[in-house]
Amino acid sequence: MKQIYLLLCLLAIGFRNNNAAPASETTDSNRQSVDYRIPDTIRPSNYRISLTPYLLASDGAKRFTFDGSVAITLRAYSANLKTITLHAKDMTFSGTSLKEKISGNVITISNQTEVDLITDKFSVNLDTALKTDIDYVLAFNYSGKMGDDMEGFYKSKYTNAKGEEVYIGSTQFETHHARRAFPSFDEPKFKATFQFDITHPSHFDAISNTLPTSVINITTNTTITTFKETPIMSTFIVAFLVSDFRGRGDKDFIVIARPEAYDQTEYAYNVGPKLLKILEAFTNYPYSTHGLEKMHLAGIPDFAAGAMENWGLLTYRETGLLYDKSASTLLNQQRVAGVISHELGHQWFGNLVTCDWWGYTWLKEAFGRYFQYFTTHELEPTWEMEKQFVVDQLQSVMNMDSLAGATPLSDPSAASPDDLSRMFNSISYNKGATILRMTKHMMSESKFRAGLQKYLKDNEYDTTVPQDLFNAFDEYYTGLGNISSILKDWTEQVGYPVINIKLTNNGKSFTVSQKRFLLRSDAGDASLLYQIPLTYTTDVESNFENTNTKIILPKSTSETTIDLGNQTAKWVIANIQEVGYYRVNYDDTIWDNIRKALVSANHGKIHELNRAQIVDDVFNLGRAGLLKYERVIQILEYLKSETHYLPWYAAFQGYSYLAIRLGVTNEKYFKPYILGLLDNAYKSVGFTYNQTEKRLVTYCRANVLSWACKYGHTNCVKQSKDIYKSFMDESKPVEVNIRAAVYCTAIREGGEQEFNFLWNKYRGENVQAEQVTILTALGCSSNKTQLHKYLDLILSDAVRLQDRQTAFSGTYTSSAENVNMVWEYVQDNYKKIQSSFDSWSTLASIINGIASRFTTEEQRKSLQTFVDNHKTEFGSYASTLTSALDSVAFNIKWATESMKPFVDHLKSVGDSATTIPISTVLVLVTSYFVAFLFN
Ligand SMILES: *[C@@H]1O[C@H](CO)[C@@H](O)[C@H](O)[C@H]1NC(C)=O
Ligand SMILES: *[C@@H]1O[C@H](CO)[C@@H](O)[C@H](O)[C@H]1NC(C)=O
Ligand SMILES: *[C@@H]1O[C@H](CO)[C@@H](O)[C@H](O)[C@H]1NC(C)=O
Ligand SMILES: *[C@@H]1O[C@H](CO)[C@@H](O)[C@H](O)[C@H]1NC(C)=O
Ligand SMILES: *[C@@H]1O[C@H](CO)[C@@H](O)[C@H](O)[C@H]1NC(C)=O
Ligand SMILES: *[C@@H]1O[C@H](CO)[C@@H](O)[C@H](O)[C@H]1NC(C)=O
Repeated sequence: MKQIYLLLCLLAIGFRNNNAAPASETTDSNRQSVDYRIPDTIRPSNYRISLTPYLLASDGAKRFTFDGSVAITLRAYSANLKTITLHAKDMTFSGTSLKEKISGNVITISNQTEVDLITDKFSVNLDTALKTDIDYVLAFNYSGKMGDDMEGFYKSKYTNAKGEEVYIGSTQFETHHARRAFPSFDEPKFKATFQFDITHPSHFDAISNTLPTSVINITTNTTITTFKETPIMSTFIVAFLVSDFRGRGDKDFIVIARPEAYDQTEYAYNVGPKLLKILEAFTNYPYSTHGLEKMHLAGIPDFAAGAMENWGLLTYRETGLLYDKSASTLLNQQRVAGVISHELGHQWFGNLVTCDWWGYTWLKEAFGRYFQYFTTHELEPTWEMEKQFVVDQLQSVMNMDSLAGATPLSDPSAASPDDLSRMFNSISYNKGATILRMTKHMMSESKFRAGLQKYLKDNEYDTTVPQDLFNAFDEYYTGLGNISSILKDWTEQVGYPVINIKLTNNGKSFTVSQKRFLLRSDAGDASLLYQIPLTYTTDVESNFENTNTKIILPKSTSETTIDLGNQTAKWVIANIQEVGYYRVNYDDTIWDNIRKALVSANHGKIHELNRAQIVDDVFNLGRAGLLKYERVIQILEYLKSETHYLPWYAAFQGYSYLAIRLGVTNEKYFKPYILGLLDNAYKSVGFTYNQTEKRLVTYCRANVLSWACKYGHTNCVKQSKDIYKSFMDESKPVEVNIRAAVYCTAIREGGEQEFNFLWNKYRGENVQAEQVTILTALGCSSNKTQLHKYLDLILSDAVRLQDRQTAFSGTYTSSAENVNMVWEYVQDNYKKIQSSFDSWSTLASIINGIASRFTTEEQRKSLQTFVDNHKTEFGSYASTLTSALDSVAFNIKWATESMKPFVDHLKSVGDSATTIPISTVLVLVTSYFVAFLFN
């Protein structure tokens, strides 16, 4: 599932958007000692569930509630059990009974406990012990509520073509919200079969994981839809949808959405079945044999995550499923195809075979993310998604994994709702997929596949722990070392290493040693070591295609010497195509020679992924104090001749961190510097989209224009304003792929008229992807009154809850100046923000996001005052604020101590580049930098 959503201010910091999770906000400080788990001595095998949701105005007081009854077949697997413990949340019980299944004999219930508000557990206590050789049926009658928080069985709203508000009922059960729809053994390990019937208004349809067996009108306006029994499955992938949506497709594969969005379902319907076929070939396990008999892909107007893989009924935020040629960018289109691959991949990895507990969330999300790129790549090879993976996924998670608070991929101790949220961070997704990619290159594609096919067969309809996966790889692994032992290093330990390479014996050999990479020396255990699958080439070989492991670097602090045979190398470059999860640092001789190669013709034939790697590594080695900034700057000078998307993507990530640290004061020096580096790239991409150009050129244009305009490139700003003017005056639409840059520039440079024009377009827009682009661009306003008015709008009903955090981040990530304007607003309006999100956790993470951009002592003090005054109101989320304070102090100190060489260099460029005009403020933040995680 899920996805989150982070507006990444260009930095992939993976914190969960908790905007939908007020329910998990307890202030219990003893959370660690709470037992959230239920005993597995009693296990369910089947649920029969009847639900009646009330969605219509005519339902009166019952509107937005539902009635339910459930009969759970279960069995005791241990003697003398007199207590049945299961989960429920936010429901009112009106009856409980227990019977022997076959005989029908009634068992006396002595009492039923209240549902615990922290753990959601409750117990049914019996006078006599359960027998272990027969099935029982435990039944409940109850009623529940349909909330706005996008969890459990919830309501979602849209306005139809007649202007009427329509409420539909949808579900989101991952990770622990099935218990809000029916009492259940609500952990992934308790697999069972499910039989649903849903009573609903006749002008709505009900769909669920399986096909209906009957649809019967029981009164004039009421229909009951009954569904086939599901295969054996976990509660979190159960789903149903009660709506008046319109479907596109045949009986096997249907894409369904609001009737007004019907046109936007065509693309998903075209690519969905093709992606499914690719996955069927990959797994050698046809989806049609899973037992669902059909596949629905549903776009839900309000959706907390990005998408959810419910078996046979995938649900999506509209931006993850719907595509409109005139309003969606090519990147939006790639995202749709990618998210479909991701969720389809889960039908095997997650649904058929399920992680035993959320501490192993990566066992499914790593695969989802892997297929998102590599399955889509098989369908659309010209999009080069196998390469985009490196900058989007691998490089972005490396930051987070080298800071305090990073946790390992496998974390079986995860238990509380906050822990479960955390398991859906970039570690499980990005790092998980990165480790899978590394494994593939160690094993070969065919053996990797064979191992996965065996893993699926061995564990179908069951749950697994990581060792089950490693065992399957073991069967096929013929490479160096022991794959199971190697993978444990990367999944059970946090972090990753930097390797240090020195040329020896006049270039006839080199030495290599490792150390854990940490961005802050106090950020974690620096002594961790890893078995590293090493790949490398030299200037003599210049082979950037061979990604086979050459040696496994042992878990040792000592140097390993590698003989280069009869070569005399000028440079060695390790981590070919960045297939490994580590950084590389070199001695001065190698860095000098790499630099010379980069500025030579064709960048010395160094592969674009290794150029992106070098860029990302030097930024971060500089930041960690492992490489002098003079050297970092010197190597990055090569960007003057770089026009490729991938190295520039890495560069934008690196420069945005430095630009943030420079703050308002030093920004004037940064502008001529960055515009000087960008000039060639700017000329190469221009403003004009060319139908026949490569995808990565289109993406590169979006980024380069955002940066150039943000930092006041005269021609970029002028063209953007002109384009926006014809958009306003002549309704001439802006070419969709450059909208983020053009809108943002026009809003920043413009006034009320430009702002209102775009806001009105947002209000009338039928395509959510375009809505998000607009919301982000409106945050580029550099006028404080305007920006504060906009923040009021963001927090109002005019913006869907699911989009509020993205829109909010857009306001303070758009420029250094806006940081203070937004911080002022937050100080005066924190209660309003809290209530808009109904979440202290979201408020804390918004403040954390703003504080991560603080650069001055005044800002730090004002945060300190805010924290002192309001800490207690935040309950357990006060810790987010205290760690934000700590980061601000560290960042200010770091900038003072470490950035001087960089600032000095910027000043020297500024002095010699007086011809470049320095415009006002800037912005950036293309929709491009909105990253989503999903389930
Ligand atoms: C509930 O039943 C159990 C088992 O019969 C008993 O030990 C317990 O005291 C009862 N609790 C209440 C509140 O009646
Ligand atoms: C049930 O009701 C719906 C909506 O009123 C109608 O379209 C449908 O034909 C009815 N089905 C039967 C079998 O009467
Ligand atoms: C059925 O719906 C129609 C139109 O909404 C309404 O006029 C009528 O009263 C409803 N009938 C019943 C039995 O609820
Ligand atoms: C030595 O060089 C020759 C040609 O330059 C090459 O064919 C051979 O493979 C090299 N030997 C080793 C051990 O690298
Ligand atoms: C579009 O790009 C292709 C190659 O990518 C090039 O041959 C063609 O000249 C370009 N067309 C325009 C109008 O720039
Ligand atoms: C700022 O925006 C407000 C509200 O839109 C407007 O009234 C005011 O004139 C603007 N100020 C400037 C300097 O443009």
